[in-house]
Amino acid sequence: MSNPSEAELIHMFKGIPFTIRSSPELLKSLDTFDAREDDVLLVSYPKSGTHWLAGVTAKLYNTQVTLTSPIEFGDISKLEELSKVSSKRIIPTHLDYNMLPPNFKKKKCKMIYISRNPKDTAVSMYHYYRDNPNLPTVDTWTAFFDLFLKGDVVCGSWFDHFLSWEEHANDKNILFLFYEDMKKDLPKIVKEISLFLGLNVSDNDIQDICKKSSFSEMKSDTEKENSDPSHTVCALTSNRRLIFRKGAVGDWKNHFTPKQNRRFEEIFNEKMKLSKM
Ligand code: A3P
Repeated sequence: MSNPSEAELIHMFKGIPFTIRSSPELLKSLDTFDAREDDVLLVSYPKSGTHWLAGVTAKLYNTQVTLTSPIEFGDISKLEELSKVSSKRIIPTHLDYNMLPPNFKKKKCKMIYISRNPKDTAVSMYHYYRDNPNLPTVDTWTAFFDLFLKGDVVCGSWFDHFLSWEEHANDKNILFLFYEDMKKDLPKIVKEISLFLGLNVSDNDIQDICKKSSFSEMKSDTEKENSDPSHTVCALTSNRRLIFRKGAVGDWKNHFTPKQNRRFEEIFNEKMKLSKM
């Protein structure tokens, strides 16, 4: 059965494509969202390692915390649902900085932004689109490559998203992380996260968290948890196997043609002219 049409699945809000899983009423009401000082936000462009970061962060807390679904997913009842959470909230989001509810900024809530090589992000997103009935059909990698570069995909342009957050990378309440650094030295990054969150975690516990957060462990955990509705970091699929695909750095090399790579580099260099990273 083919996917419903793009018009049935996607709507635009402030110039950014959202799926119909994010209702316009909810998106509008985010401007007045009641943030709490101890909320922790996990921010990412889709397919950048959100689940990995969420898994690590939740494990770092000894006390009861609630990992919610992304703040922008759902209908207006989401606000009430979040207000009822009595424990500390860890809230994922794919919103760009400009769309973030202002109260998170006013209250200086801690935010962790995870970024990933956009070439690998594009490939990951392509597979996610292809196998996900909640997203428009993409016939080929070539077609998806063009959509990604145009920012004609859910959450809009990777470049705009990254640049909107990069501007705040040095804010004291924001920690900027890279997927590739987590792959290279997970204990180092987990330590960095724990210090940023003000948690006292022993080296042994860090090692244990890293072991439990490896790709293979997380993949097999999620397969067991497939039907558990509390594991809701990704609200666009109930098929958790779609999230844990390959978990590799450099998979883009298996997809990009030399011509696509040149085009990507050109656009990257142009768009990222203002980037300091
Ligand atoms: P691939 O599609 O390249 O495999 P998100 O959580 O933001 O949706 O990102 C999903 C991507 O992160 C997928 O990339 C997934 O495999 C990867 N990922 C998830 N958990 C991981 C882990 N523990 N280690 C490495 N990569 C992980």
